[in-house]
Amino acid sequence: MPSNDLTQVIIFGASGDLTARKLVPALFAAHGEKFFPGRFQLVGVARRPWNDETYRQQLDSSVPKGKDHDAEAWKSFLGLTSYVQTHLETSADYVELGKRLDAIAGGPANRVFYLAVKPELCLPSVQNLRDAGLLDQSKGLKRRVVVEKPFGTDLPSALALNSSLLKLIGEDQLYRIDHYLGKETVQNLLVFRFRNAFFEPLWNQKYIELVQITVAETVGMEGGRGGYYDSSGAIRDVLQNHMLQLLALVAMEPPAGLDPKSIRDEKVKVLKALRLPTDTPDPGHHIVRGQFAGYRDEPGVPKDSQTETFIATRAYLDNWRWGGVPFLLRTGKCLKDRFTSITVQFRMPPITLFGSYQECFLRPNRLTLRIQPNDGIDLHFDVKEPGAGLHIKSTKMSFDYQAYFKKPSPEAYQRLLQDVVAGDQSLFIRSDEVEESWRWADSLRQAMAGTPMLTYPRNGWGPDAANALFGECEGRWVTD
Ligand code: BG6
Repeated sequence: MPSNDLTQVIIFGASGDLTARKLVPALFAAHGEKFFPGRFQLVGVARRPWNDETYRQQLDSSVPKGKDHDAEAWKSFLGLTSYVQTHLETSADYVELGKRLDAIAGGPANRVFYLAVKPELCLPSVQNLRDAGLLDQSKGLKRRVVVEKPFGTDLPSALALNSSLLKLIGEDQLYRIDHYLGKETVQNLLVFRFRNAFFEPLWNQKYIELVQITVAETVGMEGGRGGYYDSSGAIRDVLQNHMLQLLALVAMEPPAGLDPKSIRDEKVKVLKALRLPTDTPDPGHHIVRGQFAGYRDEPGVPKDSQTETFIATRAYLDNWRWGGVPFLLRTGKCLKDRFTSITVQFRMPPITLFGSYQECFLRPNRLTLRIQPNDGIDLHFDVKEPGAGLHIKSTKMSFDYQAYFKKPSPEAYQRLLQDVVAGDQSLFIRSDEVEESWRWADSLRQAMAGTPMLTYPRNGWGPDAANALFGECEGRWVTD
């Protein structure tokens, strides 16, 4: 924000878990790396009757501190922190909030309002900010609003939310966050695909047989999440947003440029090309849903819950590049391991010179983009085993981010917050992306309703039926 030298980041929901675990550490790290072009201030906003000092104490006790924690830097960061008590539903409070923000700034300031609040408070907060004149950019000052998912719970609610929001605030001021887009390997997808000449010519239905994307989690309903989760489920919680974003980045055409519009235009085209499950004959054949054993006994979860904690599906993109290539998508809670990866599986050479492949389920050429943990890239291929005869072995070449760059990748929220301050919307979700994702997710949910709810044991890989989403000799789910 070059127009003046002060950036105020105002967090609504200042006493919440996201603020302590992710947002404040991200801002602290960005400040430590001297990211902010001029001065920086953090203002916490919540309903609790705290003052600056009690808020600083609260942050000091709730923000996790790593082993390289710099106590001096943290102390001076806390010195830049203030607190304003505000009832977010009460419009009169925003007039007072505006005055306090001016007083804290002591002059003109660019502002980022981060709404780390319950979804139902999002629209009233933006309405109240607008009514109090806090989103007015006419004096050349930047006013940006960051909102967290869920952006609606289905297509009709997303359309209504977008339409209401966009009456109050410009799309260019609105930053819909999907923290997956802040992950280093996700951003690397664009560099990997469009900077390196060797894969892009193969990146289509002619050479790629199948793509699989997994978001596997070991966690279940810890932290009293059962009530919230039961109203959501795996499709709405992870598949509709994080996974469709991964799919869009893997499948999109090269953008005309790296500007936000070009990137987001291409992603939307992918989402529009997703074949609706309800338009597929016998859609139940391509969907497996499940609940981990004991889910219905979790606090907040009804005994007859029909919410899926696992979903796997075989999806198709009806476009020129991907026609006929299955995209297998899978996510679940309480699985054996935590990892997110994308595996691109190449077709077999046209002639098998080296005898039949005994293990027809394992394609020799696979490229795995490891999003987390151990972010990196693996390239699988076959080699001849040394010695007499012609024995073939599978091997892999690996690139590991941390080993190569000798430092951990920054947290997703740091990158995303920096982009908000810099005014770069490339890694944020535009309204039409949200809507196209819901269109497909709604159709999947509708098709899923006709499939059995399978119970799967904790600490496994979900219902066995998910393996049958692969055709004969098409491979299998990767497990790392
Ligand atoms: C969130 C979901 O959006 O993403 C959670 O609400 C999920 O249920 C989380 O656990 C996964 O994020 P990450 O970064 O841990 O893979």
